[in-house]
Amino acid sequence: MKIIIISAVAKNGVIGKSNGEMPWHVKEEFQHFKKTTFGFPVIMGRKTFETLGKPLKGRLNIILTKKLGINYPFAEVKIFHSLTDAYSYCEKEKYEKVFVIGGGEIYSQAMETAGELIISYMNFQAEGDVFFPVIDSETWKVESREKRNEFEICRYIRK
Ligand SMILES: NC(=O)c1ccc[n+]([C@@H]2O[C@H](COP(=O)([O-])OP(=O)(O)OC[C@H]3O[C@@H](n4cnc5c(N)ncnc54)[C@H](OP(=O)(O)O)[C@@H]3O)[C@@H](O)[C@H]2O)c1
Repeated sequence: MKIIIISAVAKNGVIGKSNGEMPWHVKEEFQHFKKTTFGFPVIMGRKTFETLGKPLKGRLNIILTKKLGINYPFAEVKIFHSLTDAYSYCEKEKYEKVFVIGGGEIYSQAMETAGELIISYMNFQAEGDVFFPVIDSETWKVESREKRNEFEICRYIRK
């Protein structure tokens, strides 16, 4: 099973605000995210899910929390208490790919296990205090680059 991290990163490395807000809304980037992840499980931290407020359609939404007893009233949501348990479930269900969709805490932890990164580099700086982790060129190599209006999609694979 392929473990893929997908993120949108501003020029200064910002991906969001710790109060949950997403600092920008770029329709074309959102469409790229939807097209890429549609039909596959998406794994996210509890804070990111609460920012979204509802599940992403057409995808199994896996929420990570350390808290016991959290429940969300949506059929397409599953809760796990570790990344490993979430991956094991997706393996068992025979998904070909799983996407780790943030936020900062979850990206940092998933960098060790992911085999691929799909990063949209936005062409502007953003205000915020949640950052994407460092992408070490010893570990990752750029596989492709694709220019769009307000961003560039960069695909990295593990060396
Ligand atoms: N630009 C992008 O592509 C992008 C994508 C996604 C999100 N974001 C932004 O990122 C920000 C949120 O990121 P964040 O770092 O603050 O929070 P986050 O990563 O979304 O969620 C953190 C929470 O995940 C749970 N968690 C973390 N590690 C865990 C583990 N090993 N096992 C089980 N649960 C675990 C904990 O929940 P509990 O506290 O419940 O235990 C923790 O508080 C928002 O601003 C959002 O808009 C940006």
